[in-house]
Amino acid sequence: MPTIVLEDGTTFGCDHDDTILRAALRAGLGFPYACNVGSCGNCRFTLEGGSVQHLRADAPAWSDRDRHRGRRLGCQAVPLDDCRIKVRLDPEAASTHRPVRMRGRLTNVVEITHDISEFCFALDGPDDFVPGQYALIEPPGVEGARAYSMCNLPGGGTWCFQIKRVPDGAATGVLFDALAAGDDVSIDGPYGVAYLREDGGRDLLLVAGGSGLSPMISIARAAASGPSFPDREILFFYGGRSPRDICGEEMLAELPGYGELIHYVPAVSEDSDGWSGATGYVHDVVAGALGARLLEMEVYFAGPSAMAQAMQAMLNETGVSPEHMHFDEFY
Ligand SMILES: Cc1cc2nc3c(=O)[nH]c(=O)nc-3n(C[C@H](O)[C@H](O)[C@H](O)COP(=O)(O)OP(=O)(O)OC[C@H]3O[C@@H](n4cnc5c(N)ncnc54)[C@H](O)[C@@H]3O)c2cc1C
Ligand code: FES
Repeated sequence: MPTIVLEDGTTFGCDHDDTILRAALRAGLGFPYACNVGSCGNCRFTLEGGSVQHLRADAPAWSDRDRHRGRRLGCQAVPLDDCRIKVRLDPEAASTHRPVRMRGRLTNVVEITHDISEFCFALDGPDDFVPGQYALIEPPGVEGARAYSMCNLPGGGTWCFQIKRVPDGAATGVLFDALAAGDDVSIDGPYGVAYLREDGGRDLLLVAGGSGLSPMISIARAAASGPSFPDREILFFYGGRSPRDICGEEMLAELPGYGELIHYVPAVSEDSDGWSGATGYVHDVVAGALGARLLEMEVYFAGPSAMAQAMQAMLNETGVSPEHMHFDEFY
């Protein structure tokens, strides 16, 4: 197994079929990252010796400039031999539970909306994770892994994912159209740093756009059974394009305190025919509804890049400090 050596002398092993980022996280190191699929650039490092192969030559976050300067993406770099690398470790990125490569057997699929379904996989390995985290799934025949966030809670040997079908999407095409109960897939996890924190009992704001439903539901479920719940509110905003996209309320309604301590606000941004609820982009709806109260809340959000970036800009403008913002941008 190739050995990876960091500038400070730290070493870890990385299998020939693993990436430097994931091997570092499996070894308990705080290798910085977010998406794990080559899009955010947080896992960039400098290769100072040895050689690696990049899984995705077209990874969006890997620029020509990076290539010329010897920079690689940790989530894409597979070592060909021993390597010396330069990267600044961040203790915040270290795994809550060291990620494990497992097999997951599809047990059931439940339709949530016209294009979102929940897929549950029974694992042949540990099911530990912190709500808000995600796993990498490799549907058969699809090149590369895709990230999907768990919507359930750990403890039952199963990870469930609420997944939105992407038109002509390679992975979602297989998940929705080809996979049947009893089939199995590779699942690697848990990953992700936008997980539920014990945060001193601040009120929680959870904001999901489209496919961002899954991690926000998991966080709501965990928070509603957590130690500080009776003393704080959970506000859940969900944004979709049209009324038929709206979902999530039925899951929250099963939680204790729904309607008193847990509140759900759906918003539609485009087609509001027959809709009597909030309209507009979900970040604007959140800003209009909460204003300066945002400064007192712990904020979690997930969804497509445009939504996540708009949320971040709105929170920055309002003065919410980064330590109270936790999010995943879905690429
Ligand atoms: C942290 C995170 C969590 C996510 N959680 C969820 C979730 O809970 N629910 C949900 O519905 N979606 C989630 N997504 C989005 C999901 O991972 C997929 O991008 C989405 O399902 C579309 O995949 P597709 O293959 O069907 O579409 P495609 O259009 O075929 O592929 C789109 C995505 O795959 C990437 N990709 C293309 N080729 C490769 C390759 N060779 N290797 C790796 N990646 C490649 C692209 O960069 C793009 O991001 C999440 C994304 C991230 C980053
Ligand atoms: S973690 Fe590697 S590019 Fe996002």
